[in-house]
Amino acid sequence: MPDLIEIRQVTKVFGRGATEVHAFGPVDLAIEAGQFVSLLGPSGCGKSTLVLMLAGLLERSAGTIRIGGKEVTGPQTDIGIMFQDNTLVPWRTVRGNVELQLEMRGMPPKPHADRVMSLLRAVHLEDFAERHPHELSGGMQQRAAFCQAMVHDPRIMLLDEPLGKLDAMTRERIRSDLQQLWMQQRPTVLFVTHSIEEAVQLSTQVAVITPRPGRIDRLIPIDLPFPRDLAVKNSPTFVGHVREIQEIFRGFGVI
Ligand SMILES: Nc1ncnc2c1ncn2[C@@H]1O[C@H](COP(=O)(O)OP(=O)(O)OP(=O)(O)O)[C@@H](O)[C@H]1O
Ligand SMILES: [Mg+2]
Repeated sequence: MPDLIEIRQVTKVFGRGATEVHAFGPVDLAIEAGQFVSLLGPSGCGKSTLVLMLAGLLERSAGTIRIGGKEVTGPQTDIGIMFQDNTLVPWRTVRGNVELQLEMRGMPPKPHADRVMSLLRAVHLEDFAERHPHELSGGMQQRAAFCQAMVHDPRIMLLDEPLGKLDAMTRERIRSDLQQLWMQQRPTVLFVTHSIEEAVQLSTQVAVITPRPGRIDRLIPIDLPFPRDLAVKNSPTFVGHVREIQEIFRGFGVI
């Protein structure tokens, strides 16, 4: 499978001696093609550290990571990645920012113009294509960043709390856009979040991470049909999963 993520005995230790911090692992996790897996865990448990190691932007201390069967040994340019703070450049329009991701990969924007516009339409930004980032709200900027992360049609997406800084209502709307895009294109997604409800609503599986050093306490399959709209939150299965995960975090002493 070209879009399988395999994490084997991966560990990260920062610093040495007295300043040593065991941040993460050892963790084993296999994410199959087309799955939407959330990493849910307390602050400081190593979620962002794992994302950076997967993207090949940070060296691991031990273990192996394979993406599509190939070991990760340096920056991965064919994946889509998104962080809590977006990486829009202020001097380009929304369209120009999305096109920048094509240009950086040596892909000419012209033949992909339809794809750029259809992504902008999918996140309701078609009327803002020619505006600059400072003319958009925070939520609109994150939606533009989604288009950046998806424009080269990545089969794997790493999303590190992309909705973290948004208000509850905006979060809800973007969640539904994200779910739509995932259902249409079915990339393999690793999604980092602090929100139990968000993880249960969006995911096919939720990996519950322990406090630092982060390990996977439980991998919970979420067996609810897609699309999952607001109504799903009242279903007994949804409520049951949220309670189950709350109990785990209560056990850790983090809530
Ligand atoms: N560059 C670094 N040097 C030293 N320690 C680091 C570095 N980056 C992260 N750490 C430590 O590793 C641990 C995990 O950090 P990380 O940012 O991965 O956590 P996180 O789970 O993403 O937290 P949050 O939910 O707050 O974003 C923390 O204790 C942090 O202090
Ligand atoms: Mg983080």
